[in-house]
Amino acid sequence: MLPSLALTAVALLPAVQAAPSNHQPIHHPSGIYRRCGAVSKYYNQQTSDWDTYKTGDWLNTWWDNNGGLMSNSSAGFAGAFGQWAMGNPDWSCRDDGSDSDCDLQLCDNRVLNDRGDDIRSTYYVLESVNRLHTYFTGIGEAFTTTALGAALSKDSWATTFYKDKDDKSVGALKQVLTLVTTIVGVGASFAGLGGAAAGAIAGAGNALTNGAVGATNNVMPDHTDDTFQKSADLGGILGSIVVDSLKSFTTANNQLMSGQSYSGADIRSYLSGGAFLAYPGVDKNAVTDAMTNMLVGTSINQLYRTQKIFIMGGGACGDNQGIGSGPQEATVCRDGKAWYLYYWQENDVVSTTSHQWGWVASPPGVDQLGQNEYEGVKVEDIINSSLDAYNVAGYNYNANTAASRASDAISSAWASPGSQGASWEGIFTVPVCDVGAAVDFEYQDKEYILQPYGHDSRPVWCGPICSGDAQKTKDFISAANMDGFESPKHLCSEDPGY
Ligand SMILES: *[C@@H]1O[C@H](CO)[C@@H](O)[C@H](O)[C@H]1NC(C)=O
Ligand SMILES: *[C@@H]1O[C@H](CO)[C@@H](O)[C@H](O)[C@H]1NC(C)=O
Repeated sequence: MLPSLALTAVALLPAVQAAPSNHQPIHHPSGIYRRCGAVSKYYNQQTSDWDTYKTGDWLNTWWDNNGGLMSNSSAGFAGAFGQWAMGNPDWSCRDDGSDSDCDLQLCDNRVLNDRGDDIRSTYYVLESVNRLHTYFTGIGEAFTTTALGAALSKDSWATTFYKDKDDKSVGALKQVLTLVTTIVGVGASFAGLGGAAAGAIAGAGNALTNGAVGATNNVMPDHTDDTFQKSADLGGILGSIVVDSLKSFTTANNQLMSGQSYSGADIRSYLSGGAFLAYPGVDKNAVTDAMTNMLVGTSINQLYRTQKIFIMGGGACGDNQGIGSGPQEATVCRDGKAWYLYYWQENDVVSTTSHQWGWVASPPGVDQLGQNEYEGVKVEDIINSSLDAYNVAGYNYNANTAASRASDAISSAWASPGSQGASWEGIFTVPVCDVGAAVDFEYQDKEYILQPYGHDSRPVWCGPICSGDAQKTKDFISAANMDGFESPKHLCSEDPGY
């Protein structure tokens, strides 16, 4: 009989099962039938209970009435609340190497069980603070350098994704490093959402994202002059930035727990909406995968942005509109429009035939995508991510845009950037030219605007092909590293103006 009775008792304690793995719940009943006092009634909490039972208002009132207790406590808010709620003034929830300073001792706790009408709210706050603490310790474990190192440390970056004949600087790392901090922030925010329904925790999402992006922006990398050519150890460099970023998360945890603000929000914003009330803990694999894919994508993008690589499209899916047809192996059809990923390969031998103008082909390294270490990045990700970035900021989607858009997406709940990995807006910023308008214009040889890949495929652009707009076309040419490049106009009888 005994084993099955024990199972029944466990099944009656959903809060125990849902608790984060790191901090095994302390409110175990010590006997099979024993309950933990009045507080046990509230163990089955859900995110929405926070608002249903007006816990935010309750906490504000507690905060206002207990300023003295907080300033007297060496552990600030957490210490004061721990003392008030559980009779434990050492409840600091600091990240200082101790495993136990945020434990919940709720079972038969006399202080808590004597709080009458306040028991529910008190319990919700205790549980939420404890789980917020597991969030901060959990991201530390998710962002280990091992996974990043394996994905990013290789000496083939430049040779795989870079083929232009003059190797200039082979892509400075600077741009990647600038974005890494934002990506770590996105990953950390993603970790904090814990599968909560989008929008349910908007206020907390705002605090979380601004806090996470702010935390990582404090890290100043000292590899800004390195290039991909030199950096076989890109993984090591990115890894060290990630680890440095995590030190800021420790600071964030400690400030919040003590009752201070971090990046403009105190702990009440993080707890709002019940964001952490039923938080299941950091899904480390999901966070590590999303982060790795975003960092791999960002690195490839940086190399692509130094070459003649672009996205062209905007005509009907399936083409047949008199403006040529693109490579069907590198396309995305969105809202009835087809978009293609291109690389204009220059001729690498002296030639007087039309091959002197080069041809369009698959960008270097695309054949490596979707497998092995590049498994999480596909051509469709490159196209989708770049199109979204172009729609937001044209050819000027930069690190600031990336940070503010990620923050807005999470706090206003219109997207979960972390869950999108490499397809998230701005991971790729390959320049886009929308040639849809050319269908209704009479440009010379316009049936060659789009071409499939191939050694004999040379697009011909005799006019302001991008959105029918001369300035846009110039900007596109420039963004795609084709200033002064004669190939796309080699058949034009008049100067097309770009
Ligand atoms: C804070 O500490 C002072 C000095 O020890 C004491 O007089 C006061 O009552 C304390 N306040 C609270 C709210 O505990
Ligand atoms: C790209 O966008 C299209 C249209 O929005 C979508 O159907 C497709 O799943 C996206 N692909 C990826 C890899 O995200």
